[in-house]
Amino acid sequence: MSFQVALNFEDGITRFIECRPDETVAEASYKARINIPLDCRDGACGTCKSLCESGSYDGGDYIEEALSDDEAAQGYCLPCQTTPLSDLVLRIPSSSAAAKTAAITHTATLAEIRRHSPTTVEFALDLDDREALDFLPGQYVNVTVPGADQTRAYSFSSGPDRRRISFLVRTVPGGAMSGYLTERARVGDRLQFTGPMGGFYLRALTRPALLLAGGTGLAPLLSMLEYLAQKPPAHPVHLVYGVTTDEDLVHLDTLDEYTEIVPGFTFDHCVADPDSMARNKGFVTNLMDTGTLHDGDADVYLCGPPPMVEAVRGHIASLGVVPASFHYEKFTPAAVRETAEAA
Ligand code: FES
Repeated sequence: MSFQVALNFEDGITRFIECRPDETVAEASYKARINIPLDCRDGACGTCKSLCESGSYDGGDYIEEALSDDEAAQGYCLPCQTTPLSDLVLRIPSSSAAAKTAAITHTATLAEIRRHSPTTVEFALDLDDREALDFLPGQYVNVTVPGADQTRAYSFSSGPDRRRISFLVRTVPGGAMSGYLTERARVGDRLQFTGPMGGFYLRALTRPALLLAGGTGLAPLLSMLEYLAQKPPAHPVHLVYGVTTDEDLVHLDTLDEYTEIVPGFTFDHCVADPDSMARNKGFVTNLMDTGTLHDGDADVYLCGPPPMVEAVRGHIASLGVVPASFHYEKFTPAAVRETAEAA
């Protein structure tokens, strides 16, 4: 028996290793040829100190100079002493290159193309080796555009356990991937991508969560919801989904289904276009108040274009609320991702 440990490096690259309950995370990393930062290997220096964002573990023996009680209470551990009691997600204090590892390249076959509307396309892939891909709900990969020497970053819209993986793409005129998906893509095409990457992933839910999506920023939140459908949360989860026009609205039926499947899940949506048929016209900020933020006792996950991210941050500040945690990811059509956390 072994547990899965996700090692999330400072550059966002994530590697997954198997770790037995009787071996330390450092030993399992070494076996996987991943050189996480280590020095004394004895719980004395603190070099390996890492934040555990999900899961439970035995912290082993160490001295206060290596890890203070305060740090331990915040979730920090010493991988050279830590043995897992469940699957874990650890933030490793080094780049993947420093740990002599890198993201993995995967090959796949295009299995489905669904053109939701002129603005939004979804595609699904069957991997040559599905077992070789693990990811955390919310993460993304860099897809190589077929026939072009370019990559685009797309978040998984499918959950980590689904065999066929999928992505949601906003098409942009003249865009490399947009041109491929709208004009040339055929089921059976071969594609390549590298990943998983990103620090925007679902942490263990220990309080209510507010999920905020702008446009195809819905994708990583769909992945999180699929995960929560299998691991029901003990706290309410509310999603607010905003788009520009009615034709950008997708997966409302899927969200409806999740209200039946995920205990405590509710959602609302809005459309900025004043001519929209939607019940709520305007921006996601119109649907956020101190109640949806649980007066700060909420983890906020936001994925959308940069202006939306900034508008939401400003709105939360204007409400005088400081969420317990705030994770966000900004995306652009060229799909360079910026993932961050704010207090
Ligand atoms: Fe020194 Fe872990 S390597 S405390």
